[in-house]
Amino acid sequence: MGAVIDKNSVPAHVAIIMDGNGRWAKARGLPRTQGHLEGVKRVEEIIGAALDLGIKVLTLYTFSLENWTRPETEVSMLMRTIVSVLMDKMDNLSRNGVAFRVSGSREGVPPSVLEALDRAVERTGKNSRLILNIAFNYGGRQEILSAVRRISEEVRQGQLDPQGITEDIFSAHLFTAGLPDPDLLIRTSGEIRLSNFLLWQLSYSEFCFVEKCWPDFTGEDLKEAIRTYQVRERRFGAVGARKESLS
Ligand code: IPE
Ligand code: IPE
Ligand code: MG
Repeated sequence: MGAVIDKNSVPAHVAIIMDGNGRWAKARGLPRTQGHLEGVKRVEEIIGAALDLGIKVLTLYTFSLENWTRPETEVSMLMRTIVSVLMDKMDNLSRNGVAFRVSGSREGVPPSVLEALDRAVERTGKNSRLILNIAFNYGGRQEILSAVRRISEEVRQGQLDPQGITEDIFSAHLFTAGLPDPDLLIRTSGEIRLSNFLLWQLSYSEFCFVEKCWPDFTGEDLKEAIRTYQVRERRFGAVGARKESLS
């Protein structure tokens, strides 16, 4: 266990690739679905920890566009689970100041899931303690393509000059419009890849890859990741404050 957390430099935006539910279950001789159900418990715990720590935005990768290639039974279980979690937990989370937001495509999502997501976003929109950004039916490349299409359309209609397409304008056409870029990305389960997550937004984020599978990831592990983040030096391309001699 490391040093205490510096409350003044808590990352404003933490993004998490919650991976390893299936392997967690397999290691225990359980069906993959059991791993997802255990993973949901950790989601609750991590939201609570994020609230305590004063994190302002928490983005959770819950379903990727590529996850549609999984067996139909697993996909429908995941869809049902998201609806029931939203129904069960929304009021309590809202009382705690959580505002829901969704980043992802609506295409192909069952109407019952869209309704549950829309309701959560609508009902919690006035909250401001923590934005819980659910990356659902999300793909980074597809998000960039859809921004390019919308921007092209605005150019075609004469609303935008191609020379005026700045980073800020591009960001404003992504699902995450208005949110700060993640300061810290965490991925569990020992996999060291992005799996099409927030390709534009993660350009200067700090990465923390954790060996534990998601159903084993606790609030204490989140704190540990934040301690790791706090001893990193973010340089953004400049010469850091901790100057090293060239000679
Ligand atoms: C992450 O766990 C949850 C989702 C992708 C929905 P996985 O289901 O990917 O678990 P592993 O990676 O197969 O162990
Ligand atoms: C990424 O995990 C997607 C989510 C956690 C929702 P995957 O398990 O789908 O990623 P790969 O297939 O290992 O790259
Ligand atoms: Mg996985």
